Amino acid sequence: MKKIVVFTGAGISAESGIKTFRDADGLWEEYKISEVATPEAWYKNPAMVQDFYNKRRKQVMEALPNKAHYALAELEKHFDVQIITQNIDDLHERAGSKNVLHLHGEIMKARSSTYEKLIYPVKNGIISMGDKCEKGFQLRPHVVWFGEEVPNMEIAYKMVSKADIFIIIGTSLSVYPAAGLIYYTPKKSKVYLIDPQGKNIDTIENLEIIKEKAGTGVPALVEHLINSKKTTSRL
Ligand code: APR
Repeated sequence: MKKIVVFTGAGISAESGIKTFRDADGLWEEYKISEVATPEAWYKNPAMVQDFYNKRRKQVMEALPNKAHYALAELEKHFDVQIITQNIDDLHERAGSKNVLHLHGEIMKARSSTYEKLIYPVKNGIISMGDKCEKGFQLRPHVVWFGEEVPNMEIAYKMVSKADIFIIIGTSLSVYPAAGLIYYTPKKSKVYLIDPQGKNIDTIENLEIIKEKAGTGVPALVEHLINSKKTTSRL
């Protein structure tokens, strides 16, 4: 069975009402990264960081998966699909995708600020100052801040290096190391980029850019891939 690796960014959740980061009305227009999304911000003003992520979590809980998330879940019924997402929301999982690797963490989880292996679901949607892990240390959002290591990168590189088809959706490809994943695509693989602003990536040979929103571009591509599989298996 063909292996399809899908790499998603904030753009796939835009039509679910979750703001992207670097578009004109993006989150980083409203907030300074250095004040809410770095270890330094946490040391300086943990309550402000906590509040920022509590707001993000509330939005995620109010959002629903869109047609693009559902189409990818459908794709899994026909191919060996692995999703690698930069998103911290859980919309892929809620749409039904089973194989989802989060590079930048998961907003619906909390973890100990001292023991990083102690991870818990956030039950009521809020992490408060004073909420502690079982060893008595403050809980923080289970997300990767700027300047922190991205623990799942090595696994992600391996996944991409085995892809027959690589699909990139809704990312500005501006944050590393995640953006560097695309350079691990095997030379023979077909690569699709679905993003209204999709720019050419010189180093990728078999690249097809689909300048559409995820909500229309993804279901159309999924339908195409499923149909071409049916045609090939009939030959
Ligand atoms: N469908 C598809 N793509 C869209 C849509 C849409 N409806 N709306 C916007 N986009 C595209 C934009 O054209 C842009 O290329 O989504 C991309 C969003 O880019 P960013 O805001 O930079 O988001 P992303 O690439 O996911 O950011 C990477 O940066 O701040 C960090 O940790 C954060 O994981 C995030 C990382």
